[in-house]
This record gives sequence, structure tokens and C-alpha cells, in this order.
Amino acid sequence: MSRVYRSYMPRDPFTPTFGVSPPLLIGRDDLIAEFATSLADDRGSSTRATIYTGSRGIGKTTMLNVVERVAREHGWLVISETAYAGFVDWLTNIALSGLLASHGYSNTTASTQSFGDQLKLVSDHLRSLHSGVLITLDELNDAQFDELREFGAALYQAFPDNGTVAFVGAGLPRPVNLMLADLALANFQQADLHVLEPVDLDDAKRALRVPTEDSAREIEPLALDDAARATEGYPFLIQLLGHLISHEHPDERVITRDDVASGVLKMHERIGSWRLESELTELSENDRVLLVAMATDHGPSKTSAIASRLAIGQDYLDEWLAHLIERGVIYQTRHGEVDFVQPLLREYLRVHPVSPSLEPDTPWRSQ
Ligand SMILES: Nc1ncnc2c1ncn2[C@@H]1O[C@H](COP(=O)(O)OP(=O)(O)OP(=O)(O)O)[C@@H](O)[C@H]1O
Ligand SMILES: [Mg+2]
Repeated sequence: MSRVYRSYMPRDPFTPTFGVSPPLLIGRDDLIAEFATSLADDRGSSTRATIYTGSRGIGKTTMLNVVERVAREHGWLVISETAYAGFVDWLTNIALSGLLASHGYSNTTASTQSFGDQLKLVSDHLRSLHSGVLITLDELNDAQFDELREFGAALYQAFPDNGTVAFVGAGLPRPVNLMLADLALANFQQADLHVLEPVDLDDAKRALRVPTEDSAREIEPLALDDAARATEGYPFLIQLLGHLISHEHPDERVITRDDVASGVLKMHERIGSWRLESELTELSENDRVLLVAMATDHGPSKTSAIASRLAIGQDYLDEWLAHLIERGVIYQTRHGEVDFVQPLLREYLRVHPVSPSLEPDTPWRSQ
């Protein structure tokens, strides 16, 4: 095989980037089948609303991409949106009104309508075409609860009369749990909630082996075993490790145990910060502010010092600290003093006082 020929081959098929669909999707067949069945059910039941939750990199956005594809295959229209500020306006005035305009409705009338009115117009129209519209909403978060209320109310009004509207949302566990506990968002309690879990060892092996073989390489059986175990079945880690081991000796056909051992080391270097960040995403932004205030100390923090840094009362602070102690993030070293359970968290917070998803050029996030 000549070098020139080799260079045309995709030597690294893996996708260690958030939101990018993997070369081989594993471990989600049941969920995909369930979604497809719900589309075929024309009673317009509440099974038309689904929410995927789970930790960072577990594959939520990927699942949204998959259900969007399935919906299109069923002849449905798809509107794909992220729950950023203003998303209801965008859905109303751009997405739905564009959809109506392309079906011969005048844009001017349409743009004066509310989201609920627009959705009803669209769903009535699609019923006559025996089609439907799927709306997906990624990054469900508590900053947008007001908009989610309006969205949820209109959505659940559209469900009962016909089977032309489906909704699939995705978000991290903390905001999703808050959402489901919020009485004003009670509509969403009827949604099918799925917590995405790591995949099993055999699936992890398949996810590493098949794309490798598809790009005309091979991985030794024992090397494959080591690699799959090291990922613990986390989809993001499968992609990251696949990518790292593909780059160990890109010109060799066979990936060895040594390649995997060295790839795993690199993976651990990269995920140190990723794990800490995953822990922090389970807390609120205010909790992070408090932890950052603690992180300026080199050892345990005096609670009186934290109170004065944050300019808040001691009683209020004590309650807040109790909540973080209960969550296992900090502990009381002695009366009036607290410290981090994970020592690395202090160093990490000094460098990342805000979430890196808001910072450019983080190693584990492409944008
Ligand atoms: N079922 C799967 N099989 C193989 N790889 C997957 C699977 N699901 C996701 N991945 C890969 O894992 C990585 C993370 O996926 P994704 O971006 O969907 O996670 P997420 O849960 O949306 O993360 P975040 O919480 O940051 O939004 C991507 O590289 C993706 O290609
Ligand atoms: Mg995502």
C-alpha cells in the first residue's frame, strides 16, 4: 500500500466534540425504537413529549439529532432549537411562520400571532397533509423557565386534538429536575423522562472497533478490551480515547495495547478538568460563586471570611454551606471552617471562575 493511497483514508473516524454525531451510535436502540413508535401512534398522546437528561457528554444532543432524523424519515417536519433567551420568539416568528409561509400562508398575518396560535395553525395544516412537526429543544435550563412556561402551555394544548405535534427536550439533570418540580411547568411532568446512562462494555467495544475497521485499521483484542474498560462506557470518552489511540501510530495498521496504554494516559490528563466541571454543572451558578470565594484561601476557609467576601449574613451563609455539605462538595473541618472535599477543585476554580463552556478554546469543547 503506498503512502499516497493511505493518506486518502480517514485514519481517525472518531468525534471527540460535543454535539457532533458519532461514527457509530451505540446503546440507544431501545430509546430510538420507542420514539419511532410514539410517532406512529396517531392518538396524539402525551408520549409525544420526551425529555433526555444525563451528565455532560453522555449523548443528549446526539439523541436529539437521531430523533430528528427518525422524524424526517417518517415524513415529519423538524424544528431544532436551543433553549436560549428568546427561543419562543424565534419559534413563533421565524421557525413556525417560515413553515407557514412555505405552505402558502401570508407571513404578515402569521407574525402577529402568539406561539400557541402559530402552533395550532401549523398543526391543523399538517393534519390535512397527514404529517407532523417535531420540535426539539436542547440545553433546557432554569434561566428560561418563563419562556418554557409559555412553550409548555401551548404545546400541551396542541397535543390532545391531533397527532401532529411532538416535542423532545434535552438538558442536564439539575435544570431538568428543577423544571419537573416547578408547579408552573407541571405540563412537562407528563413527558417521558429518560436518564441516559453509560453504555455496557460490549457496546463500548463495538463503538471503538467498528469505526477503526471501517477506516481500514485493526485493534488487537486485548487492546480493545483495555480501551473499552478505560472509557467506563461514557460516550464522550469513547470518542476521545478512540481519537487519541488512532493518533498514536497512525501509519501502522494495527493498534496495540501499548498504543492504548499511552492513549489512556493522555485521556486522563484531558478529563481531569472535565470531571471537575461535570461536578460543578450539578450546582447552581450562585453555588459556584460561593466556591470561588472559598478558593481564594490556600487551605480551609473561615466562614466569617466567606460571609464578608460575599457581603452576606452569617445565618444565610450557614444554610447555604449546609446545602453544599449535604451535596458532598465541601465539608466542615472544625467549627466555623469549611474546605473542599476534592482538593483539585480549589485549583480548578481559581483558573475557571466561570464555566468553560463560556470560554473559547477549552480542550474538550470545540466552540
Ligand atoms: N450513543 C453514542 N454512541 C457513541 N458515541 C456517542 C453516543 N452518544 C454520544 N456520543 C459521542 O459522545 C460525545 C458527546 O455527545 P453529546 O454532545 O451528544 O453529549 P451531551 O450529553 O449533549 O453533552 P452536553 O451535556 O455537553 O451537552 C460526542 O462526541 C458524540 O459523538
Ligand atoms: Mg449537548
